[in-house]
Amino acid sequence: MDRAPSLATLTEQTKAAFEKRFGRPASIVVAAPGRVNLIGEHTDYNDGFVLPMAIDRYTVLAADESRGETARLYSSLVEEQQDVPLSAGDVSFLPAWTRYVRGVFDAYRDEEGIQTPVFDAVVNSSVPLGSGLSSSAALEVATATLVETLTGKSVSPVRKGLLCQLAEHRGAGVPCGIMDQFSSVLCTAGHLMLLDCRSQETKMVPMNDPGIQVLIINTNVKHELTGGEYAERRGQCESAAKILGVPSLREASTSLLEERKSSLDDVHFRRARHVIGEIERTIAAASAIETSNWDEVGRLMYASHESLRDDYEVSCPELDVLVQAAAELDTEQGVIGSRMTGGGFGGCTVSLVRTDAVESIAQAICDRYLEQTGIEATAFATPPAQGAMVITSN
Ligand code: GLA
Repeated sequence: MDRAPSLATLTEQTKAAFEKRFGRPASIVVAAPGRVNLIGEHTDYNDGFVLPMAIDRYTVLAADESRGETARLYSSLVEEQQDVPLSAGDVSFLPAWTRYVRGVFDAYRDEEGIQTPVFDAVVNSSVPLGSGLSSSAALEVATATLVETLTGKSVSPVRKGLLCQLAEHRGAGVPCGIMDQFSSVLCTAGHLMLLDCRSQETKMVPMNDPGIQVLIINTNVKHELTGGEYAERRGQCESAAKILGVPSLREASTSLLEERKSSLDDVHFRRARHVIGEIERTIAAASAIETSNWDEVGRLMYASHESLRDDYEVSCPELDVLVQAAAELDTEQGVIGSRMTGGGFGGCTVSLVRTDAVESIAQAICDRYLEQTGIEATAFATPPAQGAMVITSN
């Protein structure tokens, strides 16, 4: 299993890197986690429900105010330092990772009138990059937490999530929903977060049975395709809702979809069927978890995967191999359920497994994956972790 430094270790490493780089101690340290979604995929931008949790992998920023014109950011991950302007202007010359940071400065300034002061910072992270575990949301939310600490001005947690979503839209040009940024801001340790993406209300669902673990397995592939699949799916959902005569697919039902089947082409029908079914599965999974009905949770997770694979078409052969390998081990051997998680086309699967078998299950799935694909997968288990936090501020 893949081990990562604890938050405490990562914090110490980041503080030490700051002092070495900038020659004085950091006065502020903040952290924000990545997330994994247990169920409710591609439902957030359809006003539906999602059921993510924060993972025990964090992006940490150690910082201190400074003089000068621009923020100076050193990334321990890419081992480079960049000057990031704090005032409005062209950002196209900035390297990709700094655009998320810059997107947050812009969102706080343009939407809230909160101007980030000049500072120096070191960025470090234990969130695997580009694996569908929201490393970019973790960076945005950590930056927002830093901006609020530096200025002493804060917005509500929901507003903070929305400003970070805006930063992602601007920084990466991906029209993502609210799940990733809301998870990084709002999740609490020991809980899944049932988020109603229409009302933006949350309900925390306890997930602290010591006999059950959340296992994440990374395919270690990312299919670039043409890059526009996410926006394309989003567009197809909007068109399907329009044809069905509803404001969003949240307001549609299976019976309405069946009734109007002839007015939709096959692709739009299947996209809508995924979203409508997935919203129902997410609500059902949250109640099944509350009553520890693990068989039902497992069934819903596999159904979610099949729907994402066949109707929504965002899976890929590598994700399917991992889910299939988990399903073959089945409940007898401690696997409760498994599915792809996040946007798709690579990245990770999430599985629920019995704690006493977690190591052997991870090993068996990774062995099978290597045998079938020739690629090494990486696995780690994580408790539901705490959302963004200020670690030091003086
Ligand atoms: C990405 C997006 C999220 C969400 C998921 C799919 O992670 O950033 O908003 O749409 O894909 O569920």
